[in-house]
Amino acid sequence: MVVDSLVRTGVLTEIDGVPIDELVTVEPLDDGDGLGWRTRMRFASTNDGFLGLREHNSHTVLRADGCPLEVTEIRSAISDSKGWPSPSKKADVVVVASSSGERAIEFVNDDGKIDKLKAPTSEIPTDVAIAGTRGRSWVSEEANGRSWRVAIDGFWQVHPRATETLTRTILDLLQPVAGESAMDLYSGVGVFAAAVAQAVGDGVVDAVEGDKSAVANARRNLHDMSQVRLHHASVESWLANESDRHVDLVVLDPPRSGVARGVVEQITSFTPSRVCYVACDPASLARDIALFRKHGYSVSKIAAFDLFPMTKHVECVALLTPSKVS
Ligand SMILES: C[S@@+](CC[C@H](N)C(=O)[O-])C[C@H]1O[C@@H](n2cnc3c(N)ncnc32)[C@H](O)[C@@H]1O
Repeated sequence: MVVDSLVRTGVLTEIDGVPIDELVTVEPLDDGDGLGWRTRMRFASTNDGFLGLREHNSHTVLRADGCPLEVTEIRSAISDSKGWPSPSKKADVVVVASSSGERAIEFVNDDGKIDKLKAPTSEIPTDVAIAGTRGRSWVSEEANGRSWRVAIDGFWQVHPRATETLTRTILDLLQPVAGESAMDLYSGVGVFAAAVAQAVGDGVVDAVEGDKSAVANARRNLHDMSQVRLHHASVESWLANESDRHVDLVVLDPPRSGVARGVVEQITSFTPSRVCYVACDPASLARDIALFRKHGYSVSKIAAFDLFPMTKHVECVALLTPSKVS
């Protein structure tokens, strides 16, 4: 898929004379069998009130008493309980098993808003939080030697090893130096901002995130890092107000669709010496690399990881640097 997206579209065929298909290996995160890794599941309910999953490309919900991809803590949080809200209410059930051992459930409506519909509470173990009904609306995750507060329905990498693997990779690629200035765009609860902040020391990191609760949680997560400035804004509107400045390095980890129009142009106008693009869709990455190229940047390294084993998804991390003038 990576080669398809990059090479066949003609966006990136080689780096320093080495063909991309020889250069990119999709690295596994562990030596397991590719099962039992999903720490977050989003279920729908069947007409008779069981939890299930939608058929591929369909609204039909099939009862699922277990998914081979989920970690065992997910199943034990919901057991095979019945009495979930009927599908007519259009509420999905998000179940999270965090790396600190917490389990939590939240109902999410079609429009992404939390729905306080009642779960079959009596059948759910008492230590499982149910958003709006009992316990907290967030879970604690552990990664990179720190604790992270994340909303139950907030963004956190699904594979238990993904956060640390990606953090290590961006630090390897960017090689941040003390005193440098950095941006972490689409920063979530602040994982990459924290890692870069540690490396730049008394430099500065601007972290930009559009989700209000993620920014609130980032504020707590990074309370000891005065070099991080958190901004609650859409990346495109924040960048538009930051013209005429320089930044040494940029990390961006946008949603599947990639970046909005104008974002690449704004980033390159800050003349960073290194840009690290974390992408969960190689096709969006290919499109955005083509834009970076138009603005004088090219890929100098690329890594790929099997963050979602047994699925068609693959994560890429690309280092972009100013193109050499020949
Ligand atoms: C793939 S996640 C990355 C989060 C973070 N880097 C991490 O690893 O935890 C993408 C994030 O971008 C945010 N987001 C999506 N579109 C955005 C936009 N236009 N402006 C700002 N943030 C946005 C989402 O809320 C989400 O937190």
